[in-house]
Parts: sequence; C-alpha cells; structure tokens
Amino acid sequence: MIAFKKFIKKLIHNAQKCCWPVAVQSRFLTRLYYCFFDRSFGYEQQALLKAKLAYFRNGGVQEKSSSLLRRNIHRLEKGLIMEPRRDLFALDYIQETVETFVKASKSEGFSTSELNWAFSVLTAYFNAIKLSNSIVKKAQKIFLSVESLERDNCKPYCSESRVNHDVSYDSLLALSKARRSTRWFLDKSVEAEKLEKVVSVASQAPSACNRQPFEFVVVEGESFRKKVAKLPGGTVGFSDNIPCLIAVVGDQSYYPMDRDRHVIYIDSGLASMQFMLAAETLGLSTCAINWPELEKLDEQVSKLLKLPQYKRIVMFIALGYAKPKGGIPFSDKKTAEQLIYYVKEND
Ligand SMILES: Cc1cc2nc3c(=O)[nH]c(=O)nc-3n(C[C@H](O)[C@H](O)[C@H](O)COP(=O)(O)O)c2cc1C
Repeated sequence: MIAFKKFIKKLIHNAQKCCWPVAVQSRFLTRLYYCFFDRSFGYEQQALLKAKLAYFRNGGVQEKSSSLLRRNIHRLEKGLIMEPRRDLFALDYIQETVETFVKASKSEGFSTSELNWAFSVLTAYFNAIKLSNSIVKKAQKIFLSVESLERDNCKPYCSESRVNHDVSYDSLLALSKARRSTRWFLDKSVEAEKLEKVVSVASQAPSACNRQPFEFVVVEGESFRKKVAKLPGGTVGFSDNIPCLIAVVGDQSYYPMDRDRHVIYIDSGLASMQFMLAAETLGLSTCAINWPELEKLDEQVSKLLKLPQYKRIVMFIALGYAKPKGGIPFSDKKTAEQLIYYVKEND
C-alpha cells in the first residue's frame, strides 16, 4: 500500500514537472497551474482569508493585544521622532487610533503595558500637534473620554538614553558559535522561570510596526509532547528525546493585507533567533525544527494545539539541557566574504 502511494505521488509529481515549462510562461498560466494541477497553496490561502475575516470582525483587536493599535501607535512614534517634525501628521488614522484605544481599554484582560504605551504616545502626540485642526480636535475629545492611566513614560526618547550593555563583539561571536542545533538532551525538564527569561529576550526582537504577531506555545505532558514532536518530519530519531517542545505560532490576523502575508514568518523567525541565543546564555540548548506546509499536517497540528487556521505554525523549537556526550554536526558556515555582495548602479 505504501509503495503504491509512493508510486502515485511520483506519478503526480512527474506530471506536474511536465507542466512547469508552460506554467511559467505567464502569470495567468501559473495561476491556472495552481488552480488545477497543484493545490499546495489552497490551505494557506484559506488561512489568509480567515485571518482577514478575523481581523475585520474584531476591528484589529486580538485577545489581549491589538495589531491595529500597535501599528498605529508605532506610526505616531515615527511621526514624533521625524526630523524635522511636521506640524500636522497622522490625520488619516488618528481617529481610528483613538477609537481602537478606547475599545482596547474597555476590553477585559487587555495588556496594561500596551495600553500604557498607547496612552503615553497619544498624550505626546496631542501635546505636540496643532490642536486647532478639526480632525485632531475630534480625536482628542475621544481620547480624553478615557480615564488617564498611571504610567506616562513609554514615549520616544533620544538614542543616547538607550539601555547600556556590556556585550562585546567577541562575546557575541562566541555565543553564536556556542549555539549549535542540539538533538540529544538530558532527561531534565526546563524550569518555567528560565523559559520566561528566554521569551523575554525573544520579545525584544524587531517586528514589523512592532506588532509582535507571535506566541510560544509550550506542548505539555510527556506523551502529548512525543505525539506532537513526531509531526514535523525533521525530528525522526530524536522526537522522543525532547524535554521541552515549543511551537512558534504566528497569528496571520495581525497582517490582514496579502502583501504582508510573509511577515509573521519574518517576525517570528527574528524572535526565535533571540530565543535560541538567550537559551544558550542560561545553559540551555535548542534545535529549530522545520514545519512543512502540508495541509494534512496543518489540520492535525491545529486540532492538537487548538489553534484556529489563521494561527500558523512557523517552526518548532526543541529546548533542553544538552547531553554532554551527544553529537553535534560540524555545520560549516559560509564566510562573510561569501555572503556580502556589493552592487552599484549600472553594474
Ligand atoms: C527553519 C529551520 C528548520 C530546521 N529544521 C530542522 C529539522 O526539522 N530537524 C533538524 O534536525 N534540524 C533542523 N534545523 C536545524 C538545522 O539543521 C541547523 O540549524 C543547521 O544544520 C545548522 O546547524 P547549527 O544550527 O548547529 O548551526 C532547522 C533549522 C532551521 C533554521
């Protein structure tokens, strides 16, 4: 039966291959190809539509956070630090911003730090802008209807006031070299406090408009963890040996525009990198695990992890204490010379 399935798969793949030279001739033919000969993107496209629907249904406010509020507050901060700063800006989205702020402030369990940030920046905006403008006046009236928040110190500041650090180039290089994908772990669980520390570093990563559309879902319970760890094909041979399994999940409803459909992967990837380096500083080791875009697997994992279709698995991360005698592949790295490429106009 397995051999027969493999044979059919190969047959389909070969038939698809024959279509490629024709399908690439125009975008229309490419679309036809993906419509009739290859359904690989079907599930993902449906997820994108579900994400749009979720975004517009909830007005850009997710459970404890709001992608719309985060985006607009970020845009206001950029307006406030602009050199030179304009007398009037954000007229096209200030009302939407204050309305979302009001909605968020009434939403139970909404992140207080996000509200404080929004409150601080909106206060700074209304202090900086010409209040005589009718759009600004109207927005300010809505803003003032919300009770003043305790903290008002989350607004733009000067570069020289940034947090100091004592990480040298050499120590960062050493940390980068020390981090190696680890597949053999001690039978020892990862402390929740350490995981929180690791995620706190991951949270400092850049993300588009500071939306931070990711979550780190910890798969709990030994047998459940083993079951989930088997889903991504890349864990063959070591799936039973992962003491802590994290699903990095990107919420596609944070980016309702098709043009931004890849951003959850970029944001989550950057945060995951910081996650993995932070783990290393606490004596923990990691292995990123690929999540293939396969409809059946997606359906299975969504069911198991109780995720709506628009929350996408970006990758898994295996986390734990490395077994000292466990093997590590050498994994040669490309040199900077290989990776840097300069380009000039008219080259
Ligand atoms: C997105 C991504 C997916 C990966 N998927 C797997 C995987 O499924 N199984 C695995 O054993 N390693 C996986 N790895 C680990 C890579 O094999 C590893 O990063 C690479 O060989 C370089 O080795 P290093 O991480 O030790 O530098 C993945 C890494 C990344 C970044």
